[in-house]
Amino acid sequence: TSSVGFVGYRGMVGSVLMQRMLDENDFAGIDPVFFSTSNPGGAAPSFAPGAGPLQDAHDLDALAKLPIIVTAQGGDYTKSVHSDLRARGWDGLWIDAASALRMNDDSIIVLDPVNRDVIDRGLAAGVKDFVGGNCTVSCMLMGLGGLFRNGLVEWATAMTYQAASGGGARHMRELLTQFGDINSAVAGELADPASAILDIDRKVLDKQRNGLDSSQFGVPLGGSLIPWIDADLGNGQSKEEWKAGAETNKILGTDESNHIQMDGLCVRIGAMRSHSQALTIKLTEDIPVAEIERMLDADNEWATVVPNTKDATMDLLTPVAASGSLDIPVGRIRQLEMGPRYISAFTVGDQLLWGAAEPLRRMLAIALG
Ligand code: HSE
Repeated sequence: TSSVGFVGYRGMVGSVLMQRMLDENDFAGIDPVFFSTSNPGGAAPSFAPGAGPLQDAHDLDALAKLPIIVTAQGGDYTKSVHSDLRARGWDGLWIDAASALRMNDDSIIVLDPVNRDVIDRGLAAGVKDFVGGNCTVSCMLMGLGGLFRNGLVEWATAMTYQAASGGGARHMRELLTQFGDINSAVAGELADPASAILDIDRKVLDKQRNGLDSSQFGVPLGGSLIPWIDADLGNGQSKEEWKAGAETNKILGTDESNHIQMDGLCVRIGAMRSHSQALTIKLTEDIPVAEIERMLDADNEWATVVPNTKDATMDLLTPVAASGSLDIPVGRIRQLEMGPRYISAFTVGDQLLWGAAEPLRRMLAIALG
């Protein structure tokens, strides 16, 4: 059995990771050591009673003893310990959910159903830092890998509908609190079928503008949307939008000869934990829709094509339908008016599963052989 250190196992992504590892019996082959930033010396987590007391997540000596460290503690933590650990000669595997190391030349973005070849080449070449991708990018590539991996995409735009969970646990709570506060503001009128809808609407808008706690998102999300996610890069693009192109190409291991142009607008909406995205794809060749559907469905065991009908779309292609499942539904596939090589697609993925925890869990399993 190999020792593996876990940092940030109690946060939202960490908790999903632990649950997935328990579901898949992943702890059977390892000797877990749990680290804490807030409670070193505390008791081992209840799901791993045999593990020793919690170690201090900033104790470089304790970290350096481990051949593998898995962290979901966040980017600030990565920045505060990773380079110091490396500087003192630690050459273990660092498996990280945060974006801090993602675009380093000596790191690999892990999404093994899509880029197992890139991961295997990296391991063989001595790469030590393996980082989970941006949630939107990972969910998109899981759903549309059949086109991207076969070199059939000339360019694509992804217009996203991103859930509150991408911001974090507090953001999810804020969204629900806003929904509740909006409802409370008009509860009396809602109970009265004779009340005027425009009066209700005016009260709701007043509540949204003047009466909601929006400290996490900055502006109200409940009953609204926010067409900007992550930092302003100063060139009109958000950092989340930049990641789509940069990470897609890094995951696929493209170079200048087969670089895929990928761009779009990223939008926060009031969903809980599943990110959706509408894609326009320019293919490198004219392929019938039925053939595209077959390729997407066959690419990996999680991509699931939803027939492009109203009933199937409404049943299967929503955040409510996709949340809690590893399946990545892909639908609305049709040839667009623009011409035979232009297709649309819509995909939804649980942002905490394939978008965060699952690629890390699987990378750990690959590393342990
Ligand atoms: N940046 C993503 C979002 C979350 O805000 O939705 C994690 O990749």
